[in-house]
Amino acid sequence: MADTQLSELLNLASAALAAALNLDGREARLEAQVLLGHALGQDRAYLIAHGADPLSVDQTDAFHVLLSRRLSGEPVAYILGKREFLSLDLRVTPAVLIPRPETELLVEQALARLPQDAPSRVLDLGTGSGAVALAIVRHRPRAEVVAVDQSAAALEVARENAAQLGLSNLHFLQGDWYGPLDRRRFDLIVSNPPYIAAGDPHLSEGDLRFEPAAALASGADGLDAICIIVASAHDHLLPGGWLLFEHGYDQADACRELLRQAGFQHVGSEQDLARIPRISYGQA
Ligand SMILES: C[S@@+](CC[C@H](N)C(=O)[O-])C[C@H]1O[C@@H](n2cnc3c(N)ncnc32)[C@H](O)[C@@H]1O
Repeated sequence: MADTQLSELLNLASAALAAALNLDGREARLEAQVLLGHALGQDRAYLIAHGADPLSVDQTDAFHVLLSRRLSGEPVAYILGKREFLSLDLRVTPAVLIPRPETELLVEQALARLPQDAPSRVLDLGTGSGAVALAIVRHRPRAEVVAVDQSAAALEVARENAAQLGLSNLHFLQGDWYGPLDRRRFDLIVSNPPYIAAGDPHLSEGDLRFEPAAALASGADGLDAICIIVASAHDHLLPGGWLLFEHGYDQADACRELLRQAGFQHVGSEQDLARIPRISYGQA
């Protein structure tokens, strides 16, 4: 069989991805480049510079294995086994949620409430890959972060990420929200909990089909986890401490109400770049 030219393979793959996943041409090409780059162990710049190169049968086969996984809908991050979050290269597996750009706002708001040069105690509830906890420790090296998740498999990924990034002042605990904490109190509690309504049709579409259900859905209105997190936060916050959490695009009013009812001060929400209120907060 004749060798296939790199640019020709990219064109065919882009067209197949656009048709199968309903992507626009630019997205489809980018995904094809990312997958081919992974198969060849090369970056995008290499692919652009070597478009006329022939690929061996082994290289083409390796690419087709990745391409067929993507054509069946599997998220790119799971195929590559990694995702970048706030410049941190994180390992991800199907045991963890794929960290989202929206969650960068949560980290940004947490960092704004943590001192640069003094010790602080932070709790990350539902740490998953460790994305939020690790980003906080990276930018506030004097913070001591406790990260909780109910999933042992997720915590294994988070621990690996911490080790890989050489970040050490983190403690990973397995359990149900505040369950493994005894009476420990913190300056700041941060969480990106599951918040999708259990019957939401998006759960059976796109990337969400491949992500852990326990990381996504939370009761009939999506607010079960948030209710628990808000209700017991006072037991684990130091005086003046902050609770901040991410929520769905239409949950900000309900979340601020929960925070007020629980006795929080300075309750508010913060909008993402699309002007959607994405996180809410309150001070103990
Ligand atoms: C939306 S994911 C967030 C993951 C990560 N913090 C991020 O932002 O990418 C929610 C996480 O909460 C965890 N979780 C769900 N229910 C939990 C519970 N009852 N107690 C502790 N963690 C829980 C899930 O395992 C999942 O890792």
